Amino acid sequence: MPSQIRTVVIPAAGLGTRFLPLTKAVPKELAPVVDRPAIHYVVKEAMDAGIGHIAIVTSPGKQALEEYFKPSQEIDALLRRRGMNAVADELQQFAQRLTFSYPIQDRQLGLGHAVLCAREAAGREPFAVILPDDLLVGDEPVLAQMLRAWQRRPGNYVAVEEVPRERISAYGVVDLAAGSEADGRTYRLKGMVEKPPADKAPSNLGIVGRYLLMPEVFDALAETRPGAIGEIQLTDGIARSMDRCPLYAYRYAAVRYDCGTPLGLLHASLSLALRRPDTAAEVRGWAQETLRM
Ligand code: UTP
Repeated sequence: MPSQIRTVVIPAAGLGTRFLPLTKAVPKELAPVVDRPAIHYVVKEAMDAGIGHIAIVTSPGKQALEEYFKPSQEIDALLRRRGMNAVADELQQFAQRLTFSYPIQDRQLGLGHAVLCAREAAGREPFAVILPDDLLVGDEPVLAQMLRAWQRRPGNYVAVEEVPRERISAYGVVDLAAGSEADGRTYRLKGMVEKPPADKAPSNLGIVGRYLLMPEVFDALAETRPGAIGEIQLTDGIARSMDRCPLYAYRYAAVRYDCGTPLGLLHASLSLALRRPDTAAEVRGWAQETLRM
């Protein structure tokens, strides 16, 4: 079993209905957060965690994603002429340090099915999954935090955060095993419950879009039949491989922005622009002016 994770799977084949009408023409993953597409940030997170192979699961009509990561000398030269060196450097690093593959999901049969479509691209090795809707901003990339825990205790990992009771029913929720705390952030699990009513939630830890998974999850997903809403859920596949691999939750240190809705994307843009030295003063000024109106 390799002691490293070399592939991250980024499922990006969804319909993006909450972003209609934009998604008639543009994949929602390319909608910008400040000045870079949302998917740019999560690819950078994977690169900063030392992962070298990015498998982006797309669907027919979303070729623009592949176009975005294709190296272009003309764009590089243009960016540098315009003084946009930081962006040019990041794109150059992507080209030098990463290889990309683009498995296709022909029909939107759910997140678990999208991950299964990357089976060949990932090979029979442990792999990571990042959902591009969840932008996580912290001092250290969340994937790097999780990989450290995984090196100590290999298994399947889901990222979790503490969720207020009134919002817990929107999440997959983890069920902790007795005496489960392995360290301050890692917990052994006995199961997961998808979107439980608040009074039935087994914990206050909700699952967020980062996973480290063993290849057995692909076998389990291949055996999983579509659930109640006709989709193959990733959490079902992970739960089914619990008899083969230990399951852990990792409570990460970072702030999460949900870029899966237009307003969430606006929140992410505003927060990131207020954190960045080159944009903070201008955006703070606009915000104050808008609030006075
Ligand atoms: P969502 O449930 O947010 O669906 O998927 P969506 O299509 O992106 O957006 P809405 O709900 O229609 O507005 C979560 C992640 O899983 C991927 C999506 O691309 C997104 O990154 N996904 C979902 C797939 O790749 N395939 C699927 O069949 C479903």
